[in-house]
Amino acid sequence: MKILIAYASKHGTTQKCVERLMRNLQGMEVEAVNLEQATVDPNIYDMVVFGASVYFGKLRPAARRFLTEYEALLMQKPLALFLCCGLTEEYEHYRQKLLPAALRENAFQTAFFGGSLSTEGLSFLEKLLVRSIRSSLYEESIDNGDYTAPSLPGILPENIDKLATYLRQEAIRLTDESHK
Ligand SMILES: Cc1cc2nc3c(=O)[nH]c(=O)nc-3n(C[C@H](O)[C@H](O)[C@H](O)COP(=O)(O)O)c2cc1C
Repeated sequence: MKILIAYASKHGTTQKCVERLMRNLQGMEVEAVNLEQATVDPNIYDMVVFGASVYFGKLRPAARRFLTEYEALLMQKPLALFLCCGLTEEYEHYRQKLLPAALRENAFQTAFFGGSLSTEGLSFLEKLLVRSIRSSLYEESIDNGDYTAPSLPGILPENIDKLATYLRQEAIRLTDESHK
């Protein structure tokens, strides 16, 4: 059972999530490809995991290109999806808006891996943007009557580990089915 993890990560958060997922899948035949750096044809894989981070309310362009090119093929594969974003409360909205409905329905799991609003390693303009996202979170909590600074988001290891468990179970189920 060959598994592809096709993901798009600009500043490394999604990549860190994928590294944890890979560690959890040790012993299985898994390949991870960062779509920002390389292209991959999912055709030769038995199962596909697709994940990307959100920038300016959209998936990374490389991720969008991958979905456009391979949506029909992904409909025929056992599929799992995940997203990373800085605005935790927007995850559900992004899930519905950014992942094609047909793929969401075909996916046996869709997960949220968390995200970062750290400014480390960002360009000047990106830092401005991330600071303004952080300020909006702060303003929102003040509007809600809470005067303590909201905690910054981070990676959600438990969600990554849970997806790894589902992937293992699905791989076992599919292998058993193919032996019947
Ligand atoms: C320029 C910029 C724009 C961003 N826009 C959004 C956004 O619209 N919504 C959101 O929830 N997070 C946004 N984020 C946060 C990213 O989704 C988050 O940092 C994520 O962890 C990045 O993952 P990556 O390093 O794998 O690319 C933005 C971050 C940057 C630097």
